[in-house]
Amino acid sequence: MSVSLKPFNTLSLDQNCHQLVSVADVKDLKVEIEHVKNQQLPMLILGGGSNVVFTQDFEGIVIKLETKGIEVQEEADSYYITVQAGEDWHSFVKYCRDNGYHGLENLALIPGTVGAAPIQNIGAYGVEVNQFCEKVNYLELENLETHSLSNEQCQFGYRESIFKLDLKNQVVITSVEFRLPKKWKANLKYGPLQHLDANTVTPQDVFKTVCEVRNSKLPDPAKLGNVGSFFKNPIIGAQQYVELLKTYSDLVGYAQPDGSIKVAAGWLIDEAGLKGFTQGRVAVHDKQALVLVNLDNAQGAEICQLATHIIEIVTEKFGIRLEPEPRIIGSKGEVQL
Ligand code: FAD
Ligand code: EPU
Repeated sequence: MSVSLKPFNTLSLDQNCHQLVSVADVKDLKVEIEHVKNQQLPMLILGGGSNVVFTQDFEGIVIKLETKGIEVQEEADSYYITVQAGEDWHSFVKYCRDNGYHGLENLALIPGTVGAAPIQNIGAYGVEVNQFCEKVNYLELENLETHSLSNEQCQFGYRESIFKLDLKNQVVITSVEFRLPKKWKANLKYGPLQHLDANTVTPQDVFKTVCEVRNSKLPDPAKLGNVGSFFKNPIIGAQQYVELLKTYSDLVGYAQPDGSIKVAAGWLIDEAGLKGFTQGRVAVHDKQALVLVNLDNAQGAEICQLATHIIEIVTEKFGIRLEPEPRIIGSKGEVQL
């Protein structure tokens, strides 16, 4: 049996897998995991496919999470909301906006599922999901045991969590619990949100502005295949930053609490002259240099070749090695770029 993964990844890469099964509840999920293990085939857990790059046909079974359900518990000062992993992230953010549960509006329009959100601690416009994530519930693939991790145990960082460290590819996140305080304070730190008036702004205003900014910069995967930012913003030492500023006075960097500097990878790629750069059927997006796009039925390997080219040029020019953000999936599972 062979199934095309094209409709299931936002880069629209036309690789196949042996079989794709959708699971609608945790009981089915367990059955399918057992089934794949019995067949001794590679297994891939897939959400919305918005952070994966398929470089080959996957010689195993893809389990697509479509578990649904949102439960809200009201406490004196906060709402506690437990969301099943297969819920669509943006629909959940809209649901919160419409029901008066506020805080997630800066994270509007991020594609993918709720279950994947803690994995790279999704972030945008001055907010990261760990600010609202109370607990993550998961199944261990090895023995199907269920566990919960508190916010602290998740080891959240910038595009980082325990799910990319010790538990990488070891578990399926089944649900996520959020705590949204009733007392709402707008987060307007990020440049394009700064024109909003902190005294009168509503969560709806923030939601709307975030959606407008995103739509103006990021390509819609339904029209132009992409996985959002292809590289993480690199974090460098203050000394290296100061040295670079001598040559590149407009280098964009954000000071981190420990004194290191997070540099805008999009700026580095842009400054290296690669914005809009096209290599066959793939390109660096002409509005956002951190986004690589599939122009016309390209293969994952072509995206990876372009990414490697960018890493080489940027390393040579700035002495900074970019690291990919999406997960690269080969024939048996995750691989390095
Ligand atoms: P998938 O791509 O399906 O999976 C990603 C990885 O997680 C895979 O390794 C998969 O095996 C694993 N996985 C998925 N679900 C589970 C689960 N339940 N349990 C265990 N493992 C699982 N990200 C940001 O942080 N900020 C942004 O602003 C942002 N903007 C984006 C804009 C665009 C246009 C696009 C296409 C992507 C953007 N992203 C952004 C990246 C992406 O949306 C996030 O990484 C998202 O959380 C991925 O969710 P997904 O369900 O699509 O994951
Ligand atoms: N820039 C350029 N040229 C470019 C692109 C960016 O000079 O082609 C400069 C911008 O002018 C700006 C800076 O780089 O000064 C940062 O750009 P932007 O605000 O667009 O954000 P980013 O750092 O490129 C990050 C996240 C995005 C997130 C936005 C908004 C990472 C890797 N990316 O992008 O997340 O939506 O900030 O907060 O941290 C994703 O992870 O997939 C993603 C889209």
